[in-house]
Amino acid sequence: ETGNELILLDRKYSIDKWTNITENIISKVGRNLHVTPHHPLSHIRQRIVNYFYMQFHNRIGSPIFSVYDNISPIVSVDQNFDSLLVPKDHPSRQRSECYYINHDTLLRSHCTAHQKDFISMGLNNFLVIGDVYRRDEIDNRHYPIFHQVDAVRLCTADELFQNVNNSHDLKLFEHRGVETNEKQACHSLEATKMMEHELKNALTGLAETLFGSELKCRWVEQYFPFTHPSWELEVYHQDEWLEVLGCGIMRQQILQNSGAGERIGWAFGLGLERLAMHLYDIPNIRLFWSNDSGFLNQFKVEDINATIKYKPISIYPQCKNDISFWLPEDRSYSSNDFYDLVREIGGDRVEQVIFKDEFVHPESKRVSHCYSIIYRHMERTLSKREVNNVHKLIGKTAQEQLNVTVRA
Ligand code: PHE
Repeated sequence: ETGNELILLDRKYSIDKWTNITENIISKVGRNLHVTPHHPLSHIRQRIVNYFYMQFHNRIGSPIFSVYDNISPIVSVDQNFDSLLVPKDHPSRQRSECYYINHDTLLRSHCTAHQKDFISMGLNNFLVIGDVYRRDEIDNRHYPIFHQVDAVRLCTADELFQNVNNSHDLKLFEHRGVETNEKQACHSLEATKMMEHELKNALTGLAETLFGSELKCRWVEQYFPFTHPSWELEVYHQDEWLEVLGCGIMRQQILQNSGAGERIGWAFGLGLERLAMHLYDIPNIRLFWSNDSGFLNQFKVEDINATIKYKPISIYPQCKNDISFWLPEDRSYSSNDFYDLVREIGGDRVEQVIFKDEFVHPESKRVSHCYSIIYRHMERTLSKREVNNVHKLIGKTAQEQLNVTVRA
């Protein structure tokens, strides 16, 4: 922050009486957990994308959804609210709800903020995935930053009714219609019902692909300014119904304003954290922001579809110490020998050993290994002295038993 300006993602923004973004939030913009390799949110993102690629394809089998997962979260008030027909006095616009950079600019509170831009660019089927920001309560399931997948699908009458016999009398639009609980005034009931059916099928199919068919879920009617009718999908988790997504038939006004007035559309927005917590048994939303290898390593799998159940990590702090040594020249050394030795000496004070790298001396051709040892006890905080003593003893014993030469 410099006087009347602040710099965010390499750009300057003027600040004013509306500015309420905090240093803590600023420090986290750009972390991009949803595309961090092996991060649980990234696994879920990839699985959702794969599902849409599989489920929706053209005549020759190519996916029809395009995916945008690196759009800047800094948007205008127009993008986040006005373009979506959110009334000027709607509570979601309040300073108490959002992180404003200034009067006209904020950190998006939902990925729906990009809907109008992408439709105006000519896209008919797309996913927008990214970080969203909302001021909220503090508990296990709420964090001021979370991640969403938003989707839009637009259809012409031909596309929507292509599998219906004698479809020539089916229409997308109806003149002089009235809005009811079931449809917007301008839409025909048959077009709305077809879209509703496809939308709900796609989303329950997604939920079953992620969680298996035993999953208990239910549809609840909802209100959003940008869709009608609208629904929420809730899943049953630990004796509670959790809302995981909102969706609906897009307001035709938005399509008209974006140059796609001849189509009908559905849209949804889902929260990745909720799904990931449910899928991996992650008890607290703060864990997604952890740099703790005890957390992250549990998600280092080759196959993103692998079943992972999170095992709680110790609440006591970690302490990381590196060790590197020259290997004996007779090639008698194997890393597993070292791991066993560390287990012997460190006992349950050691959480993990990471093989960092191998180095071959250019002249002598001697080989050196470097490891990080992560110390952490499950029941108490380790003192620096205790860790140093154990670490030294590991080095000394390795020299004696494994014939290595510890490097200074
Ligand atoms: N943007 C809504 C939210 O964040 C979700 C949503 C997206 C609902 C698209 C309907 C259509 O809660």
